Amino acid sequence: MVETGIDNGVASGAIRASTPTHTIHLMSEKATLTYKDASIDLPVIVGSENEHGVDIAKLRDQTGLITYDDGFGNTGSCTSDITFIDGEAGILRYRGYSIEELSEKSTFVEVAWLLIHGNLPTRTELRKFSDTLTEYQVLHEAMKHHFEGFPSNAHPMAILSSMINASGCFTRELTGPYDPAKFKRHSARLLSQVRTLAAFAYRKSLGLPIVYPKPEYKYTANFLHMMFSMPYDDVKLQPEAVAALDQILLLHADHEQNCSTSTVRMVASGRANIFASAAAGVCALWGPLHGGANQAVLEMLAHIRHEGDDGTKFLKSVKEKEGGKRLMGFGHRVYKNYDPRAKILKANCDKLLARLKKSDPLLDIALKLEETALKDPYFLERKLYPNVDFYSGIIMRALGIPTEMFTVMFAIGRMPGWIANFKEVMDDPTSRIYRPRQIYTGPTIREYLPIEDR
Ligand code: CMC
Repeated sequence: MVETGIDNGVASGAIRASTPTHTIHLMSEKATLTYKDASIDLPVIVGSENEHGVDIAKLRDQTGLITYDDGFGNTGSCTSDITFIDGEAGILRYRGYSIEELSEKSTFVEVAWLLIHGNLPTRTELRKFSDTLTEYQVLHEAMKHHFEGFPSNAHPMAILSSMINASGCFTRELTGPYDPAKFKRHSARLLSQVRTLAAFAYRKSLGLPIVYPKPEYKYTANFLHMMFSMPYDDVKLQPEAVAALDQILLLHADHEQNCSTSTVRMVASGRANIFASAAAGVCALWGPLHGGANQAVLEMLAHIRHEGDDGTKFLKSVKEKEGGKRLMGFGHRVYKNYDPRAKILKANCDKLLARLKKSDPLLDIALKLEETALKDPYFLERKLYPNVDFYSGIIMRALGIPTEMFTVMFAIGRMPGWIANFKEVMDDPTSRIYRPRQIYTGPTIREYLPIEDR
C-alpha cells in the first residue's frame, strides 16, 4: 500500500539539480510504502507545473522490490525542461509557449531553435542558425552511392534511418566523446541534412534524378524544391503550401517522452553520438501505432472509400475489434481530450484545400468518421479523440506528398525534439545509462540435455 501525505504543495526548499538549467523540488512530504511488516518513506518530487512523482530510485535497495508498469504508462523516466503536456486538458507547450501561439506566430526553424536552446531566438541568432542550416544542407557526394544500393521500392523510412547513420560517418569527430562546444554545429548539420536525405530518398524511390538544395530557399521551401523540382525545371513554390508544410513540421517538433524520443534518450544515455541516436529515433517512429499512423490513416480512409462505405461499416468493425482493427488517428496514451495539434490542423485543412483549389473525398470520410466517433459511447468511454495524425495526412496529400513519405515528414518535424532531448541527456552531469529492470517469467533453471537426447 502506498500512502502519500502531500502537504499543501509546500516545497521543503531541498532542491536536487537534474540538469544545469533545471531544478526539481524535493518535497518535505513523502509517500509511505508498506510491504509485509515494514514501511519505508519515499521522496516526492514536484515539477514546475505541479506534477508530483514518487522517487523510487532507492526502492530496490531498501525493500528488494522493483516497480512494474507495463508500457511505462505511469512512469516518469526523466525530468525535462523541454515540453509540457496536460493530456486531460489538451494542453501542449514547448519551453512554456503554447502550441496555438507558436503555430500562429513562429516558423519551424524558429521553434527548432527554441526547443534545442531553450529560448526564442533573437534576430541575430535566427539569422546565424538559418545560415548554418544552409551551410550544411548539401550531403557529401559519396553519399549518392549509398542511395544506389537500395531497391527502388524500399520504404523511405528504412532509407532515412540508414542514411542518417551513414551520414554521421562523414563527421569523423562525432565518434569521439560528446563535446558541448561542437554540439551547435553537429545538431545544425543533422537538422539540415535530414531534409536533404528525406528528399533524396523520395527521388530514389521514383528513379528520379537528385535535385540539390538552393541556398536562397529557407528550410521548408528547400525541401519542397528538392522533392518536386527537376534539374532543368524548378517547381513553382506556392507560399501557402510552404506555410502549411512548415506548420505541420512545427506541430510535430516535440511531444515529450513518446516512443521515439524515449528511444533517442535511451541510445544517448549509452553515450552514442547524435546521428546514431537520431537514426534510432527514426526506427522507433516508423510503427503504425506511433509515427506510422499518418500513413495508416490515409490507407484506412482510402480503403473505406474503395469499399463504398461512408465509415459506418468500418466503425462497427473497429468497435467489434474485428482482427484488432483500430480507428487510426484516434486515441493517445497521454491525451484524454482533443489533441490540440489535431484541432489546429482540422481548422486549417479546409482553408488550405480551398486556397489550393483542391477538394478531397477522403476529407469528407474523415469528417464523417470523426463526427460519428465523437458521439459514440465506445470512443467516449475510452476517451478516444482525434490525434495529430488524423488530419495531417489529408493536408500532406493536398501538398502532393506521397503517402509513404508521411512518416518521413513526421521524422523531419520531430528532429528538433530529438536533438533537444539528446542534449538534455548529454548535458546532465547526473545522468546515468538507461537500464530498466524486468520481472522474469521464463523457465527456472533447467538441466542441459546433449543434442542426441533432445
Ligand atoms: N481505435 C479503436 N479502439 C482504440 C483505439 C483506436 N484508435 N485506441 C485505443 N482503443 C481502445 C483499445 O482497444 C482499448 O480498448 P479496451 O479497453 O476495450 O481493451 C482502449 O481503447 C485503451 O487502448 P490502449 O491500447 O490501452 O491505449 P494505449 O494508450 O496503449 O494506446 C495508441 C495509444 C495511440 C497506441 C492507441 O490509441 C492507438 O492504437 N491509436 C491508433 C494509432 C494512432 O493513431 N497512433 C498515433 C498516436 S499520435 C502520434 C504519436 O504520438 O505517435
